[in-house]
Amino acid sequence: MGSMEDLRVTECTRCPALVDSRSQIVNGTGPEDADVVFVGEGPGANEDAEGEPFVGRSGTVLDDQLRIVGLERDRVRITNCVRCRPPENRDPTKDELANCRGYLEAELDRLDPEVIVTLGKVPSEHLLERSVAVTKEAGTLEDVRIEGTPRRLLICVHPAATLYDRSQEETFADALERAADLADVGDDGSGQTRLDGF
Ligand code: URA
Repeated sequence: MGSMEDLRVTECTRCPALVDSRSQIVNGTGPEDADVVFVGEGPGANEDAEGEPFVGRSGTVLDDQLRIVGLERDRVRITNCVRCRPPENRDPTKDELANCRGYLEAELDRLDPEVIVTLGKVPSEHLLERSVAVTKEAGTLEDVRIEGTPRRLLICVHPAATLYDRSQEETFADALERAADLADVGDDGSGQTRLDGF
């Protein structure tokens, strides 16, 4: 068993455009025994500045909903498809996603979570390797093989979607509620305890 330090990418120059646009590599955050792993697209300006995923407005939306469903932020793992900020917040390219995929797969393999939750179209399509109508498919549980191991993947809209379109709030909330339910399944008491009465 390696340490969490092995999951940290400290040096990488595979993506020339991202090496130029990043100020640092933004690694995943959260405990190694997390039952739920959230996978976003890539760091934005706030994440690039702070060196942690989902610390801007999207992060506030995510944290608020995590609390509502009884999954505290410090008990879940949060990571991204690419670890360096794309210029002007453009989507990562296919090559950039491919360059970073090994780091993500190693992280998911090590964490061995109950469920992987993909936040938005980019991570959903990246891990499922198909096109995804994310609003329509949000809340759907899929089987996916990662590094040869079958995993459960829950499709979710990106938290930022709720900021642009209020009608997505419920879609987002329902998907996170399902993630919390899935995290409870197979809980042997060593994992997450949900906060009731919230
Ligand atoms: N959006 C993402 O997809 N990831 C982050 O880390 C922040 C915002």
